[in-house]
Amino acid sequence: MFITFEGLDFCGKSTQVQLLEKYLLQRGKKVEIIREPGGTPISEKIRDILLDKKNSEMSIETELILFSGSRSQLVSQVILPALKENVFVISDRFHDSSIAYQSFGRKIPLNFVEELQKFVIKEAVPDITFFLDIPIDEVIKRKSKVKQIELDRIELSQIDFYERVRKGYLYLAEKEKRFRTISGLNSIPEIHAIIIEEIKKIESSRM
Ligand SMILES: Nc1ncnc2c1ncn2[C@@H]1O[C@H](COP(=O)(O)OP(=O)(O)OP(=O)(O)O)[C@@H](O)[C@H]1O
Ligand SMILES: [Mg+2]
Repeated sequence: MFITFEGLDFCGKSTQVQLLEKYLLQRGKKVEIIREPGGTPISEKIRDILLDKKNSEMSIETELILFSGSRSQLVSQVILPALKENVFVISDRFHDSSIAYQSFGRKIPLNFVEELQKFVIKEAVPDITFFLDIPIDEVIKRKSKVKQIELDRIELSQIDFYERVRKGYLYLAEKEKRFRTISGLNSIPEIHAIIIEEIKKIESSRM
């Protein structure tokens, strides 16, 4: 099963990925956790370029291509081989992030970004995508708990950018059957419980 987590910065993706991993491991499942961008030696190098504050002159085209390159390597080197071995693959962000951030956020034409993502992910279409939805003021609230100095290049962007990104996710939630929208304002255990229920539903539908 291929599970992805999406949503704005600080919506709680990594928190839920960790809880789900623990749950699946306790049930004796094999689990592969993926961090986007990253997850292979080449992809991690691309991640460093993308998140380096010194790269503030990076064009939006370069940004999209680097994210896609990192992802392409991850798909062929890690995700597809793991799925073949019946491993649970959990990705903290995946191709939907490019649609939300690079297309809706950075305004690169949607058609192009969608086609590029199809080319990049091949058969690695997620079985289920958890979209943890939080309003922008919650992003700001959670972000302000972290020192400004620790925010990476992308996180320093503006509020209207986040508004557009959120609209991108809402567009995907409407369009994609695999999307499950969960309010990220619920408590951490409440969100975890909803996620487990959804995973169980898929498992039982496959028996
Ligand atoms: N449901 C929740 N309610 C309140 N706070 C939460 C919730 N889930 C996570 N948090 C807190 O919000 C912050 C961000 O959580 P987390 O790192 O899991 O988000 P993220 O989506 O992975 O963020 P990023 O996109 O920056 O990686 C953390 O301080 C975390 O403890
Ligand atoms: Mg995270």
